[in-house]
Amino acid sequence: MKAANAQPLIGFKQKLESRQAHIGIVGMGYVGLPLALLFSAEGFRVTGFDIAADKVATLNAGGSYIVRILPAAIAEAQKAGFRATTDYAEIAGMDTVVICVPTPLDEHHEPDLSYVTGTVQAIAPHIHEGQLIVLESTTYPGTTEEVVAPLLDAGNPGGLKVARGAEETGVQVAFSPEREDPGNDSVDRRDIPKVVGGASAAASAMAAALYGSIFRRVVPVSSPAAAEMTKLLENIYRCVNIALVNELKQLCLRMDIDIHEVIDAAKTKPFGFQAFYPGPGLGGHCIPIDPFYLSWKAREFDFRTRFIELAGEVNTAMPYFVIEQMAAALNERGKAFKGAKVLVLGVAYKRDIDDLRESPSLTIIELLRKKGAEVAYNDPFFAKVGRGRKYDLNLTCASLDHLEQYDAVVIVTDHSSYDYAQIVERAQLVVDTRNATRGIDSPKIVRC
Ligand SMILES: NC(=O)c1ccc[n+]([C@@H]2O[C@H](COP(=O)([O-])OP(=O)(O)OC[C@H]3O[C@@H](n4cnc5c(N)ncnc54)[C@H](O)[C@@H]3O)[C@@H](O)[C@H]2O)c1
Repeated sequence: MKAANAQPLIGFKQKLESRQAHIGIVGMGYVGLPLALLFSAEGFRVTGFDIAADKVATLNAGGSYIVRILPAAIAEAQKAGFRATTDYAEIAGMDTVVICVPTPLDEHHEPDLSYVTGTVQAIAPHIHEGQLIVLESTTYPGTTEEVVAPLLDAGNPGGLKVARGAEETGVQVAFSPEREDPGNDSVDRRDIPKVVGGASAAASAMAAALYGSIFRRVVPVSSPAAAEMTKLLENIYRCVNIALVNELKQLCLRMDIDIHEVIDAAKTKPFGFQAFYPGPGLGGHCIPIDPFYLSWKAREFDFRTRFIELAGEVNTAMPYFVIEQMAAALNERGKAFKGAKVLVLGVAYKRDIDDLRESPSLTIIELLRKKGAEVAYNDPFFAKVGRGRKYDLNLTCASLDHLEQYDAVVIVTDHSSYDYAQIVERAQLVVDTRNATRGIDSPKIVRC
C-alpha cells in the first residue's frame, strides 16, 4: 500500500479525532445495526439507512427488532444523535458511508448482488468529493472495483469519479469485511482485527483511520480484492472443516467411535489443529452462501473450486442424514414417519440466536412433513415460523409441557436455555444432532 498524505485524508482524520465525522450506515440488519451502535458508543454522530420503513420507524421509536440488541442500547445511541432514515438524499451529509446490505444466492445458486447494486445506484447521486464509501457486505473478489466503483462513476451527475491507485481526489472507495460471530460474546467486538483494502492509497488510509477509531487493530491489505478474498478464505476454511467433521461423524457412527470424544482429544494438541463440530447441516447468511460467491467468480478464470463444491455437497446432505437416522430409530421402535408426531427442538441456525436464515431445521421440517410426520417445533427465539425466502411453514411454537406425546424429539439447535436431562427424562426418543445430551446416559438417546 502506498503512503497517502493527501488533504482529504488529513481533514478526514481530524474530523474522526474530534468526533465531528458524521457516519452513515446503509442496511440496519444483523451487521449494520451493531456497527452503527458501536460508532455511536464511540461518540460519533450516526445515521442508519434502510429501505425497510418499518425497521426505520422501530429504531426511531427507540425499539429493536434484533433480540440481542436491547431497546436501551438504541435509546442510548439516540441520545448521542443516532437516527434512522429511508431518505438517500441524506447521504450527501455523511463523511463516510458503510454499506451492509444482504448478498444472498439466487435460485440458480449464483451471487445475487441486486441489494448492493441497488444501494450503490441509490447513493451515487448524493456522493461528494473526499467522501469515503466502504462496502462490508461479503462478496466475491473484484466486486468493489468492478461493480461498486463503476456504478458510482456512472451514477453521479456531477461527474465525480472514484479515486484509484495514487489518485488523491474523487470519492474514496474501500472494502472491509465484517467478522462478527453472532451469539459469541467471548471476544469484545473492538478486539476483532478489521481488515481494510482501498481502491486508492488514500481510501486505504481513510478506511484504516475510520476503523482505527473503534477497533483496536486494523489490518491494511493492498487492494479491495485482497480484503474481499480474505473474508472468503475465512468462511471457506470454516465450511470445508465443518464438512470434514460431518463426514468423519458418519464414519465414526459406523465404526462405533464417538466423534466428540475424538475431537476433544485432538484439540488438546497445542498447534496445527482447530476444533470444528459436526451438526445437522449449515445455516446462517454466511457459511452456506459465501463460498459459492467464489466458485462463481472462479468460473470466469476457467477454474473449479473443488473443495468448496465437495464441502457444499457433504454439508447439504446432512439434514437428509438426520432423517435417515431418525427413520432407523423409529423403525427400531416399530414406528414409521407416517403419522408420527415429531418435535423439532431449536429452529435457529445456531445456539442462542434469533436468526433462521438457511437453517437446517427448515429442510428437516420439510423432509419430515414430506414423509408424513406431524411436525411441531419449539424455539425460545421464535414464537412462530411463517414464510421466508425459501420456506412456508406456518407453525407456532409448541410448549414443552407434554414431551411424552411425541414419538420423537429431534435436537436441531442446542440452545443453552434447554434442560436436556429433563427433556430426555420426559421424551420417548431423543435424536441429538448437536451432542447436547453429552454426559446423559439413556437408551432413549440416538446421537447422530
Ligand atoms: N449476519 C452475520 O453474522 C454476518 C457476518 C459477516 C458478514 N455478513 C455479511 O453482511 C451483509 C449483511 O448481512 P446481515 O446479516 O446484516 O443482513 P440483514 O438481512 O440482517 O440486514 C440487511 C439490511 O439491509 C436492508 N437493505 C436491503 N436492501 C437495502 C437497500 N437497497 N438500501 C438500504 N437498506 C437495504 C434490509 O432491509 C436489512 O435491514 C451480508 O453481505 C452478509 O453476508 C453477515
